[in-house]
Amino acid sequence: MEHPIFEIENLSYTYKDKMETTPALKNINLKIDKGDFVALVGPNGSGKTTLIKLILGVIKPQKGEISINGKSLRNFNAWQEVGYVSQKSNSFSKGFPATVREVVLSGLTKEKGLFKRFNRNDGKKLDDVLKLLNISDLKEKNISLLSGGQTQRVFIARALISNPSILVLDEPTVGIDAKHVKEFYDVLLTLKEKSVTILLVTHDIGVVVDHADEVACLNEHLHFHGTNHEFKNLGEAELSKIYGFPLQLVSHDHERECCS
Ligand SMILES: Nc1ncnc2c1ncn2[C@@H]1O[C@H](COP(=O)(O)OP(=O)(O)OP(=O)(O)O)[C@@H](O)[C@H]1O
Ligand SMILES: [Mg+2]
Repeated sequence: MEHPIFEIENLSYTYKDKMETTPALKNINLKIDKGDFVALVGPNGSGKTTLIKLILGVIKPQKGEISINGKSLRNFNAWQEVGYVSQKSNSFSKGFPATVREVVLSGLTKEKGLFKRFNRNDGKKLDDVLKLLNISDLKEKNISLLSGGQTQRVFIARALISNPSILVLDEPTVGIDAKHVKEFYDVLLTLKEKSVTILLVTHDIGVVVDHADEVACLNEHLHFHGTNHEFKNLGEAELSKIYGFPLQLVSHDHERECCS
């Protein structure tokens, strides 16, 4: 039997510093199977980025267990399988003295090691992924000179260049214009056809409803996890309860948007 890609059991996390403690996640149980496209939604401060950081081993759980592909996170080392775009990648790049080529190629260092040289095959991977994200013309530009949306696409390319089987994306389309958002979701759907497992944090409920297989709704607790069809049927009252404030749902065409 195949293991789930992510299995999270009884996970809790509280930020603690000298001044205060902030509970971020309480008793989370979540399973994500291979090839699933799961959207993680919830209001600001609901613990989405915290959950992503725990899954990626950036911070350690105080309580509970996380496994990736049947392996406890403590023993997991196949990080070349995991592509990641962080929520802060955009601001990180300001003043960073590297070209688009260098930043995107750095997505290969997990498999090559820091000091290996890049070869012709890596150059082809680079050109392919730049083309996929429509940023070939930016290849030799300094990353700090790009617009916000261009920078974000560079970091998406960096996550994709190693051909990962798992993609974890924390609000990857913030600052990207509508045309390129659509192109980005087309790329995700192509990856999904190749059985790539996708965990996407987003506030764009319309996109969730259109593209994701499953939706997980977080607000300290995991309030809902089901198919996107079940999510659509939740209704505004139920959603507002999860979000903790009245949720204004705007319908245009078949899209819904939320205001978090
Ligand atoms: N490094 C930190 N130290 C202390 N508290 C933190 C830290 N990072 C996050 N928090 C707190 O933990 C809670 C969850 O934050 P988190 O960043 O996970 O939310 P989020 O759902 O990703 O929000 P957003 O939609 O705004 O990105 C918030 O109350 C936040 O203030
Ligand atoms: Mg966040």
